[in-house]
Amino acid sequence: MAFREYKLGARMFGLALGGSMCITLLLPAFDFAAVASTDMGLDKQFTAGHETGFSLDDPFLLGWNKPLKVTLKADPVTGQPMEAKEVYVYQKGTTFPAGVLHPRILGKGIEELSVQKGKISEAKKDAGAVFGLAKDGGVSYVENLTATKGWTTAVVMAAANAGKDEDISHAGAGKTMFVREGCWWCHTLLPEQTQDWQVFGAPPMIGDFNGESPTAFGSDRKAPDLLHVGSRNSSREWMMLHFFNPRLVQPHSIMPRFDYLWGEKDANGQKIDFDKWRTEYDQYRNGSRVTPPDVPAYSKNSEIRYLVDYMMSLK
Ligand code: HEC
Repeated sequence: MAFREYKLGARMFGLALGGSMCITLLLPAFDFAAVASTDMGLDKQFTAGHETGFSLDDPFLLGWNKPLKVTLKADPVTGQPMEAKEVYVYQKGTTFPAGVLHPRILGKGIEELSVQKGKISEAKKDAGAVFGLAKDGGVSYVENLTATKGWTTAVVMAAANAGKDEDISHAGAGKTMFVREGCWWCHTLLPEQTQDWQVFGAPPMIGDFNGESPTAFGSDRKAPDLLHVGSRNSSREWMMLHFFNPRLVQPHSIMPRFDYLWGEKDANGQKIDFDKWRTEYDQYRNGSRVTPPDVPAYSKNSEIRYLVDYMMSLK
């Protein structure tokens, strides 16, 4: 009985720790599941796909295994022109987002419609699927367009590749870049419920986060909030200059360069000569050159393209 007090203390400690874990982790999880996804939440979840942080599907955070968001202007099967519709293409092997794997998290109403009318539980990872958002009596739900309309990934991608490249968004892979590059050390994706609203736009709603992982809220803000950056700045040209070297557009910016996200080659398949660029830029800075050197146009499969697509998706 010599250690009686320790036993009691250990039990009380265990109880306090367990209790507080329950309050901070477990109870909010029930709460989240009870909240219905907003339209923004559904869009974000299906754009980003299953997991944009570390996962066994993409252990090096290279943007593997991510869906594409495609804007269709004609029915991909019949070719009939139609009102532009955004769809999410999950090619063969791409893991479905949490909302398809566990429809419960979509929230009441949305879950029933998505399963019954939207046939999301018929989607098979081995075959791939194309999802879209639909409405029924004002309630949004997810539709597995492969099951309801026969829009297979092959048919939709053939139509997308025949159209304009800008109609294909790699925002899902771009969010992986955002997480990997640590943009969240400086930027938040969370305008706060203060006068922040006036500068960075409306704060998010709880239902915007159903199924999202990670949320990339950021914590300590050293730079503008980016939750709505695509609404205030939709210039890809500006983004390109700014990511290559922020000092080209904001002379005193503390943001690092992300020129390495261009990879080896530019849009024309030419090797990018970073050393030459730097030499010319230094000449510009010391006044022996009038204009800064041109920033190379990024290739369509570069990491920077993914990241810019992600910025543009933050409306
Ligand atoms: C060291 C901190 C830091 C890091 C890391 C950082 N930024 Fe920035 N960023 C800034 C600062 C400061 C500004 C404001 C000045 C400017 O425009 O450069 C800014 C501005 C921006 C803007 C323009 C915002 C607006 O309101 O128009 C975008 C877009 C942006 N950053 C994206 C990114 C992305 C994406 C990453 C990760 C790849 C990143 N930043 C990493 C500090 C940072």
